[in-house]
Amino acid sequence: MADLWQNAMDHAVAVARRAGEVVCEALQDDRKVMTKSSSVDLVTQTDQKVEQLIIQSVKEKFPTHRFIGEESVAAGEACDLTSAPTWIIDPIDGTTNFVHAFPFVAVSIGFSVNKQMEFGVVYSCVEDKMYTARRGGGAFCNGVPLQVSAQEDIQQAIISTEFGSSRDPEAVDQIFSSLRSILCIPVHGVRGAGTAAINMCHVASGCVEAYYEIGVHVWDVAAGSLLVSEAGGVLMDVEGGAVDLMSRRIVAANSRTIAERIVNEIHSFRPPRDDAAPPSV
Ligand code: IPD
Repeated sequence: MADLWQNAMDHAVAVARRAGEVVCEALQDDRKVMTKSSSVDLVTQTDQKVEQLIIQSVKEKFPTHRFIGEESVAAGEACDLTSAPTWIIDPIDGTTNFVHAFPFVAVSIGFSVNKQMEFGVVYSCVEDKMYTARRGGGAFCNGVPLQVSAQEDIQQAIISTEFGSSRDPEAVDQIFSSLRSILCIPVHGVRGAGTAAINMCHVASGCVEAYYEIGVHVWDVAAGSLLVSEAGGVLMDVEGGAVDLMSRRIVAANSRTIAERIVNEIHSFRPPRDDAAPPSV
């Protein structure tokens, strides 16, 4: 099986690069913006076109494999992670950045077998950085091995997070309350690239010590999670314990010490799970 998954990973890298070219070309044109769950949850025709491009290309080569794609789920498909080989796709992670031509956008492709990530590919296409990780095989950026930061003192750390797409004042208060606690540790700084996948690649690269967010989706973090663990980092739920990629909550850090400190500082809540049954109509 190892060779088969290597073929699948090679295909993921090739199709991510092709998808990234489409995304970069579209950045030069007018982008027609539509909304999903709220007025700040954006989607474009490019997100949909790129997801179809990836799925079609994978189906031709691996016809029995399954898919969880951001736009397919938005269109009503189930978000079930079974033990079957499954491609977990975010065609444009950082859609709001894409809409505004803010230059951090990524094609994110994770591949899971027996509910375990086998490889992750994140192509930060404007920067032309291809991040790859294979379970047990390390993490790389453009072929160069990645290693998380060795810094264990959170007061010397940069932490990244995002503000999410809810503008409900209570939810915003919770996000700011966590942010206040983190800033006042104090940490060196707080950052956010506007894409969960690239934030996780920054943890894997060692330029930020940790990333946390409540409200992400499995397609945002599937590939990045393997990048972080293969670069020597740790993944945790925001209340401690093992991360569950369907739970929409994640702490990804260079070390257990920093992850646990973040867990102690942030105010957790439980958004609806990605694999929750859709409300009956
Ligand atoms: C979003 C980005 C953003 C994060 C959101 C994600 P999308 O993904 O990763 O950084 O804060 O939680 O949903 O919608 O651009 O694919």
